[in-house]
Amino acid sequence: MTHPTTLPAWAALEARAATEGARPMRALFAEDPRRFADFSLRLGDLLLDYSKNRIDRITRELLVALAGQAGVEAARDAMFGGAEWNLTEHRAVLHVALRNRSDRPVRVGGQDVMPEVRAVLDKMRDFATRVRDGSWRGATGQPIRAVVNIGIGGSDLGPAMVVEALAPYRQPGLDVHFLSNVDGSHAAEILKRCDPATTLFIVASKTFTTQETIANAHTARDWLVAALGEAAVAHHFVALSTNAPAVTAFGIDPANMFAFWDWVGGRYSLWSAIGLSIAVAIGFERFEQLLDGAFAMDEHFRTAPLGANLPVLLALIGIWNANFLGAEAVAVLPYDQYLHRFPAFLQQLDMESNGKSVARDGSPVGWSTGPILFGEPGTNGQHAFYQLIHQGTRLIPCDFLVAAETHNPIGPHHPMLLANVLAQAEALMRGRDEAEVRAELTEAGRPAAEIDALVPHRVFPGNRPSNFLLYRKLDPHTLGRLIALYEHKVFVQGVIWDINSFDQWGVELGKALAKVILPELTGPAAPAAHDGSTAGLIAAVRALRGE
Ligand code: F6P
Repeated sequence: MTHPTTLPAWAALEARAATEGARPMRALFAEDPRRFADFSLRLGDLLLDYSKNRIDRITRELLVALAGQAGVEAARDAMFGGAEWNLTEHRAVLHVALRNRSDRPVRVGGQDVMPEVRAVLDKMRDFATRVRDGSWRGATGQPIRAVVNIGIGGSDLGPAMVVEALAPYRQPGLDVHFLSNVDGSHAAEILKRCDPATTLFIVASKTFTTQETIANAHTARDWLVAALGEAAVAHHFVALSTNAPAVTAFGIDPANMFAFWDWVGGRYSLWSAIGLSIAVAIGFERFEQLLDGAFAMDEHFRTAPLGANLPVLLALIGIWNANFLGAEAVAVLPYDQYLHRFPAFLQQLDMESNGKSVARDGSPVGWSTGPILFGEPGTNGQHAFYQLIHQGTRLIPCDFLVAAETHNPIGPHHPMLLANVLAQAEALMRGRDEAEVRAELTEAGRPAAEIDALVPHRVFPGNRPSNFLLYRKLDPHTLGRLIALYEHKVFVQGVIWDINSFDQWGVELGKALAKVILPELTGPAAPAAHDGSTAGLIAAVRALRGE
């Protein structure tokens, strides 16, 4: 445990930022024709171009030194080795074991977990195949036509994102829905589109105690039982959980439970049984290709030197931008409609992992940690929030993602998409200076006075950093690599910031207070001692309902 600000590289980077942090990237490119080649990395066809950042070779060396001094390699090896890295919950952090495609054992407390991992994968293969080929029948003997994954957070966002991202590989005639919100409208709208006789519910909850998931599961159960009777539950419900007693208490046959383990964090769980809806949607072979892709990134992360390691570089660039150049947010901008849930998935991955303000030893951090992460697919975002990224007062580094090949080669669409993403990254980097604006307006024949008035509004400061991730095609293998890339990026940043990326105590208080408020809204419970606003709002809700 080392506070990063005590490391020699940290002070050196602060000094470097003061003298070099604002140097125009345009000049860095002009001075160095090899900049693109030298400031990019590849893993197979996956290319990370990080040349459009305000760094030079010396800054990069210092950043890599920071990773070394912070013990990133030892931490990585500890995680892969099954150490109790999540120290506030006394747990190993071993999502990498779920996609360990080698014959290497992975031990937790001396016990190799790989036989159990493989056994669950086999059970998933069998189940997904039976649902897809129609041999798993509902209570009336009909095959399954709709699968509803009931889960929230990590038990929803990962599978939902992947099922959307890999839509071209989905089985026609088999719908997959994701029910997460406790808002009954979510359940109502999904159930409206389902037929009880042909619907399968997958209740996904690591703890099997999450209020939203249990409420939605009961609603789904009542809906099914009302149509087909109690005996139908065994044919229409399966569970994904670490909590076998709670699954049984809910009424799901333990034979229809797919297990995982406490060393799998919720937001890192799509590789586990939580990925069952993915395997059903795209088939088990393609689910395995997803695991293979993640494993390829794991192997790279585990073995590549720090300075040539994609997750490490991505993490270091983020730290340079956040801790030394003052960026408070990151925009993730997939130019890929299929990745439309990727930013939402990354929000949980990054913000739940690294939204911390105490170091691993419990002392308050004196440095900023996880950034605000947001994003939308391009080109939609261009017509919404890019204005602020180009000309606003805040520095918002961007990650652009795009495939060279599309699944849907329709007319000019894909070249247009590619042109837009390349143009945005170029525009952020180069900007448009006063002379260029004046030349353009003069050329357009605008009068001198108008030009003077318009110039400040039309200047783009530029020098705004971005990373660019380019890959051949968004297939399961590539998606696996991309997700694992970001998982390890978050890990490396957590190590350097000296925080625990694997707990999430910050989500507990609201849950506890909601339990107090619920009976105050629904029954005669005497209100607890609330602040004036909360008490006033509770009274206002009751008044609006005519109570
Ligand atoms: O929001 C908190 C959280 O614990 C997440 O970390 C987790 O992914 C989610 O709730 C759902 O938890 P569970 O899978 O136990 O229902």
